[in-house]
Amino acid sequence: MTATPAGMTYAQYLGLDELLSAQRPLSGLHDEMLFIVIHQTMELWMKEMLHEVDYAIRLIGEDSFAPAYKALARVGRIQSVMTLSWDVLSTLTPVDYLAFRDVLGTSSGFQSAQFRELEFRLGLKDPAFLSQHTAGGADRHKLERALEQPSLRDAAAAALERAGFDISDGTGPAWLDVYRRADDLFELYQLAEKLVDLDDALAMWRHKHVLTVERIIGNKRGTGGSAGASYLRSTLDKRLFPELWSLRTDL
Ligand code: HEM
Repeated sequence: MTATPAGMTYAQYLGLDELLSAQRPLSGLHDEMLFIVIHQTMELWMKEMLHEVDYAIRLIGEDSFAPAYKALARVGRIQSVMTLSWDVLSTLTPVDYLAFRDVLGTSSGFQSAQFRELEFRLGLKDPAFLSQHTAGGADRHKLERALEQPSLRDAAAAALERAGFDISDGTGPAWLDVYRRADDLFELYQLAEKLVDLDDALAMWRHKHVLTVERIIGNKRGTGGSAGASYLRSTLDKRLFPELWSLRTDL
């Protein structure tokens, strides 16, 4: 615990000087402020999500399922807010955005280290994305560490193993069994449904991102050098727990 400074103010406690001086539009145009604020807001929410996901992974590792669900429920509410916030950005028209797009240079959401860290911590560990971050830099270090740490996906697989399931051929058959014996294996069944919630909400966020991108820049290339909307569409089928989706067909 850190001692509270005498007479501490609201602004001091929240670091508002730093936070509120970090919006620095380059174009002088009205709409760039919204563009900056929406990105910063999402980055703050991702920070909180990483905090909760890390906690949930630890709790699942201890078979403390109820507190883990609480953390995952919080993540779910944050995801809803993040998905809804695309509607605020949709008030930016193509004309508004094109007026300042040039000032972004080569910067792009592709370089969001927190988004990638979140994917890694959830279980989508694709080392190809490391190349977006300078070797030896702090972001690269964090991402390399996240690749090594157990993900939420790993934690769920380990929980199945501790419950006596053989997962040497993957977790698919074990999860199917959990759903078939949902009454007896309620904890794991409930865990699985929380994981599907998370997967569902992440897909919704991706979906609203690509829709917003199409609405604002159509099929123009991205500032990060990708093909733009068609690249983003190719990410829509990513699932953290594909087994939990496919078992629905087999039930
Ligand atoms: C006018 C608004 C936006 C446009 C036109 C846009 C466009 C794009 C494009 C074209 C890409 C593909 C990479 C590239 O070539 O640059 C991308 C990736 C990305 N964007 Fe956005 N974006 C917008 C807003 C946002 C916001 C508000 C966030 C929130 C943090 C965000 C987060 C990301 C992330 C995380 C990626 C990487 C996705 C992945 O690789 O799966 N974007 N964006």
